[in-house]
Amino acid sequence: MIQKIDPVKKLTGTISLPPDKSISHRAAMFAALSSGKSIIRNFSQAADPQSTLACLVQLGVDLEQKDSVVEIHGVDRDGFRIPENPLDCGNSGTTMRLLGGIVAGSGVECTLVGDESLSARTMKRIIEPLTRMGCSIDGRDGAYAPLSIGIHSGIKGIRYPLPIASAQLKSAVLLAGLFGEEPTEVIEAVPSRDHTERLLGLQSEPYGSGKIIRSSRSDLIPAQNYRVPGDFSAAAFWMVAGSIVDNSGIVLPNTGMNPSRTAAYYILGEMGADINVENHSTEGSEPVADITIRPGSLKPIQLDPKLIPNCIDELPVIMVAMCFADGTSIISGAEELRHKETDRLAAMHEILASSGAEIELNEDGIIIHGSPSFVPRPSQYASYHDHRMAMAAAVLASRSSGISEILDAECTAISYPEFWLHFQKLAG
Ligand code: S3P
Repeated sequence: MIQKIDPVKKLTGTISLPPDKSISHRAAMFAALSSGKSIIRNFSQAADPQSTLACLVQLGVDLEQKDSVVEIHGVDRDGFRIPENPLDCGNSGTTMRLLGGIVAGSGVECTLVGDESLSARTMKRIIEPLTRMGCSIDGRDGAYAPLSIGIHSGIKGIRYPLPIASAQLKSAVLLAGLFGEEPTEVIEAVPSRDHTERLLGLQSEPYGSGKIIRSSRSDLIPAQNYRVPGDFSAAAFWMVAGSIVDNSGIVLPNTGMNPSRTAAYYILGEMGADINVENHSTEGSEPVADITIRPGSLKPIQLDPKLIPNCIDELPVIMVAMCFADGTSIISGAEELRHKETDRLAAMHEILASSGAEIELNEDGIIIHGSPSFVPRPSQYASYHDHRMAMAAAVLASRSSGISEILDAECTAISYPEFWLHFQKLAG
């Protein structure tokens, strides 16, 4: 599908954000690992969390989904059935890495497959520690899906300093650790999203300048009811759009505000964006709040590389904001972007370049010479079949002087199926 984007005069209204993707995946997996009935409210209808549900069904988990409410009957830690067919993780790295940790830890013989993009993303980062823990796991060329999982003769607790600040890697190791008698210890120097630790109530303590997190068979996984907050990563597109389009006023109720996810809010605030967060409350173990965005005069920023894992999914749209800041912004230490659904550094470089932005691409980041009067050239933007590229290009195109087109725009369904509808609604 080709989505046309007209220049936008203002973006106004209240948006009901899609449910958080990361929390939806985890709530479903943890409910499946419990023994009893859990109800998840506001579960994401997006393609990635739906891949997780489909895999759980193949593993023998009884679940029922009515709109955004999912009832899951957990099978307990050792209750998965050997699936008849490969588990299809679709486009979802979180499904493959987290569920990979679970099935490898439990020793269920199965194969995990993914689409073309997922099959090109390295799984070596999970294969290596899981193998050290005693799991039987291997991939094509030792690194790529299909992943083959087999039975094992017991999970050994390991002490694992994370070599990359990745919540997916951290979670894969901790989830496999749930099947070991001895604790598995993950040492995290640079914080990444902590939904796994929060939802499972895992123990952690300070360690050096970071923390150490433990999991073992003695961690209880209760059947419980969950309510998933609105997705902060989806909110980030409107935070930038509402900041750069004159006369805007966007309200985002019930947005997940977990501090391990919200660096984009901090960064945009430092840049001078007018973003107001109020009505703080919690949904289970997760903080939520209402966000209001109004246009602001943006200043350039040099991002602290330590913040990168905390805004990894928001970086593409932060780059869009940087194009409209008054001066030069610098992102470095963001090499991880090259390992996402597409090489997001290269893709954003192409997108920004075709809009006429003044940019320099580096191996681990990008330099953006912005201007408040920048007018993106009307362009045809490739989305690279990557939901976040399509949405970032749309936000960029909203400030253009003419009609732009986003190619393969249906890929937004991976995390935000209503994105185009919401865009139209806000643009009036
Ligand atoms: C996710 C973690 C992040 C993020 C992804 C979702 C998660 O990946 O990019 O969209 O739910 O754990 P990494 O932690 O591997 O960077």
